[in-house]
Amino acid sequence: QAPLYILGIDTSCDDTGVGIVELSASGSVQVRANRIWTQAVHAQYGGVMPELASREHVERIDGVMADALAEAGLKVSDIGAVAATSGPGLVGALLVGLMYGKGLAQALDVPFFAAHHLEGHIFAAASEDNLQAPYLALVVSGGHTHLFDVPEEGKYILVGATRDDAAGEAFDKIARLAGLGYPGGPAIAEAALRGNPDAVPFKEPLQGQKAFEFSFSGLKTAALLAHKAGAKPEDLAASFQRAAVHVLVKTTRRAAEAYGRQTVVVSGGVAANTALREAFNQTDLHVVFPGKGLNTDNGAMIALAGAAALRAGRAPSPLAAGATAYAP
Ligand code: KG4
Ligand code: ZN
Repeated sequence: QAPLYILGIDTSCDDTGVGIVELSASGSVQVRANRIWTQAVHAQYGGVMPELASREHVERIDGVMADALAEAGLKVSDIGAVAATSGPGLVGALLVGLMYGKGLAQALDVPFFAAHHLEGHIFAAASEDNLQAPYLALVVSGGHTHLFDVPEEGKYILVGATRDDAAGEAFDKIARLAGLGYPGGPAIAEAALRGNPDAVPFKEPLQGQKAFEFSFSGLKTAALLAHKAGAKPEDLAASFQRAAVHVLVKTTRRAAEAYGRQTVVVSGGVAANTALREAFNQTDLHVVFPGKGLNTDNGAMIALAGAAALRAGRAPSPLAAGATAYAP
């Protein structure tokens, strides 16, 4: 039996992502292409401008898809299913990829799947070693810091989330404050290599809690005060990164113990962070991270979510499926 090629599209924020995965007859998946156009226009504002993001998606998506097909060595007529992110994200930005995906599926007469962005992030890691539930999943990105228990395929139980800022948002804001550039995650990670993690004392957020929640606004305020008091950017970066990594690993470990899970999937943009990966690898847990190019927003992870839906025998989404800023 011939393999099925699934094209995935993510335009939830400021990256135009198109990926293609191959679903073999035996059910195994393999990423065949993953192309991302990262919008540079936002750098001058230090944050994403929604209207500019939508326009750039419109201008770029055709080219990104052509690049993805070329990378996979496929023609558009080889595509057997299409998946696109329907939420959560910026509604105007989401609509571009969603409409494009629906149009493509209709033109090719193939099934269409509206995908959940966070499920995509989770599959970006889980499909690394064709991992099957049960596992715990930590999604740490610019928009989310969410812990899910995944007792069985397709079932997600929210264990805890951030009460305020997402972890990536804190990296971005502290980098901007310290003049380290945008996006802040990689900038902080790089500066931290030259800094002293003991220089700035950060108090552990929500210390002693019984729940599995996160909070990053206190770290952000502490960073602002330290910055005003003259802390060096690289010291601020090293100290903040250590505090953020510590609380992410500690809370996830407690949750894994409480839910009886040995395997943890860590995904989303912040999962690209080397210090975070090292800290997780030092625990007694089996930790799975996304492969190269699959941490931050991308289309391949949405194609992987589409492949999982197909494999599970889920019915395709109606072409009336809309975009949602907040998707529970
Ligand atoms: O998953 P993603 O591309 O977009 C969202 O869905 O939010 O995540 C982007 C976030 C940004 O906040 C960025 O600063 C952060 O991921 N990030 C990192 C690193 N690379 C990206 N944070 C820490 N260390 C990194 N190496
Ligand atoms: Zn994301």
